[in-house]
Amino acid sequence: MADDAPDPARLLKLARQALTSAEYRRKFHAADFWGPAEFYDPQLRFFAAGIKHHQRLIRGGNQVGKSWAAAFELGLHLSGAYPRWWQGRKLNKPIRAWVVGVTGQLVRDGPQRQLTAKQGEFGSGALPLSAFSGRPTMVPGGTGSIDTLNVVHETDGNHDGISSCTFKSFEQGSDKLQSESVDVVWIDERCSEEIYSELIARTSATDGIIFLSYTPLKGGGNLTYRFLNEFSSDRADIRIEATDAKHISAERRAQLEESYLPHEREARIHGIPQLGIARVFPFPIESLLRPVNPDTDIKSWARYIVGIDFGYGHPFAAALCAWVPEPEDFFRHRRFQDRARRGLRPYQAYSGPMPRAAHSDRMAARRTAT
Ligand SMILES: Nc1ncnc2c1ncn2[C@@H]1O[C@H](COP(=O)(O)OP(=O)(O)OP(=O)(O)O)[C@@H](O)[C@H]1O
Ligand SMILES: [Mg+2]
Repeated sequence: MADDAPDPARLLKLARQALTSAEYRRKFHAADFWGPAEFYDPQLRFFAAGIKHHQRLIRGGNQVGKSWAAAFELGLHLSGAYPRWWQGRKLNKPIRAWVVGVTGQLVRDGPQRQLTAKQGEFGSGALPLSAFSGRPTMVPGGTGSIDTLNVVHETDGNHDGISSCTFKSFEQGSDKLQSESVDVVWIDERCSEEIYSELIARTSATDGIIFLSYTPLKGGGNLTYRFLNEFSSDRADIRIEATDAKHISAERRAQLEESYLPHEREARIHGIPQLGIARVFPFPIESLLRPVNPDTDIKSWARYIVGIDFGYGHPFAAALCAWVPEPEDFFRHRRFQDRARRGLRPYQAYSGPMPRAAHSDRMAARRTAT
């Protein structure tokens, strides 16, 4: 047992000696003070969506309460001590849970803290101090990162076993996320589709729960795209609007808005993915592609379109496309991508003729005419 492992039994004894019962409850049963009046409407909808959906995303700007909602729910599944007002899913047996984030350090400072030490001291998070069963197993190295913690589980007030919660990170690689069956997975950051598929597979045998909490920066990635655009009765997407997060005043929100880069504001304040970075089509683009002979395939009635991406934060690119309305076909005829440089470049650099359409006289003729 690593030396930095907190000893819940000892801490419990000390807390009971030093604090009045009201102080003790405030600090070490903090979750009891959260109910429908304290949680924001989207947080309550996130809980309730667990009844119908195995997969849930809670997204929003920074600091709006995404992780706290997720930590609170996970704490209930681990202990089984669902409050009477709880409208979400209930798991009536001890569970095995995984909490996954980007790095070990981020997991320690984020979800681990919310679950175990929200107010600083061990036991002051979503899990009450009295719920811990034994000392947690720590990650070697004295960093204060917990590997696994155990929680006494009760069903309808009767002790019926021990739940476990293991903390993991994407940096450990997907092979560390394989093999076990897990009842609840909480992913506290955007992850790749590959990792997500692996984590879904962990919960499939248990009819388990998987939820994600994050701010969809950089377009939110393909997974966000799927939650937002691909209908699945198994998935729910819940957004905490900036105005829902009452603990951030309008003045503070305005200050924050000023301090974020313009293209990040929508995501960082409102939790809306930044457009233009995530995947556009909900299927592999390769499935649309086939070899083309421009001389025979591009019909004389084709309409030509020049598409330009000026490259804000990524390379400039342009494409000359042909659209044949009848029968409907779309060709990317010529393209140009400036792989070497990023960002907007002077307009003059691209104001010359479009790349020559060497394969098609028809196209050249049309270009001259327009
Ligand atoms: N319903 C609520 N009422 C008041 N405060 C709340 C509520 N929900 C969360 N908070 C508080 O807001 C703060 C930020 O919460 P949390 O860490 O969950 O935000 P987050 O959206 O995950 O932030 P980040 O973008 O940094 O990951 C915490 O101090 C938390 O206690
Ligand atoms: Mg968070």
